[in-house]
Amino acid sequence: MAIILDGKKLRDKILEDLKQKVEKFQVKPSLVVILVGEDPASQIYVNNKKKIAQQIGINSQVINYPENTTEETVLNKIKELNENKNVTAILVQLPLPNHISKEKVINTISPQKDVDGFTPYNFGKLFSGEKPIVYPCTPKGILLLLDEYGIELEGKHAVVVGRSNIVGRPVAQMLLDRNATVTMCHSYTKNLEQIIKTADVVVSAVGKNIIKGEMLKSDCVVIDVGIFKDSNGKTRGDVDFESSSKIASYISPVPGGIGPMTIASLMLNTVELFEKSL
Ligand code: GUN
Repeated sequence: MAIILDGKKLRDKILEDLKQKVEKFQVKPSLVVILVGEDPASQIYVNNKKKIAQQIGINSQVINYPENTTEETVLNKIKELNENKNVTAILVQLPLPNHISKEKVINTISPQKDVDGFTPYNFGKLFSGEKPIVYPCTPKGILLLLDEYGIELEGKHAVVVGRSNIVGRPVAQMLLDRNATVTMCHSYTKNLEQIIKTADVVVSAVGKNIIKGEMLKSDCVVIDVGIFKDSNGKTRGDVDFESSSKIASYISPVPGGIGPMTIASLMLNTVELFEKSL
């Protein structure tokens, strides 16, 4: 049976360390989260981010705009926050409504306050093999969890399924920087099953149940980034846990794997941006 990569346990350790660190700061880091619309999943994520930030002593505020808010309003708010010295980290929750350009919004965030690492400056640094100011949260959380369990990446074949800017692309780049041989798969990939069969590490970030135990190579490492509710309302990931945990050597569960690590990384990034602003 595979060893479970316990994201909750590592999250709790990271948050405890951060809390002690933040206690010593005279002025506190401050995270502002912008949410446009009433998407219930986004509302849960955003309120959770605020709650956890406050638990560790970070000042945190959510600005929740209605769905029909103009792009200009959001861009002007970001510009105001960029100028505000009391704000050290800005996060705009994705997805945005269709009438608001995601590119324009992200391009407006100051790279020094870009807690997701999504601005062209930070993404450009990452993809040219240089250090961004901070690394994107979910990929950072994945690597922290792999490191916690001493999982070697050098020379390993890592297969990333999904090519989003939030997870697939940046995690592929970060695995490459660790000297893994990286294959990226997506909805147009032919022979997905054959490719996964050769993977030492599988990272799946698709949002659909696509990975089954029989597709995996014995003793591989499985990272499940997917999270959605199935038709019975049960929280599921991309990976069929029961069959996959019999084949893999390590596996991240859903819930309790990468989700908590994303939050831990967001808090680490918030504190890193604050320290760099001093
Ligand atoms: N939506 C889902 N994941 C993320 C994330 O990591 N950052 C932002 N800004 N929005 C998201």
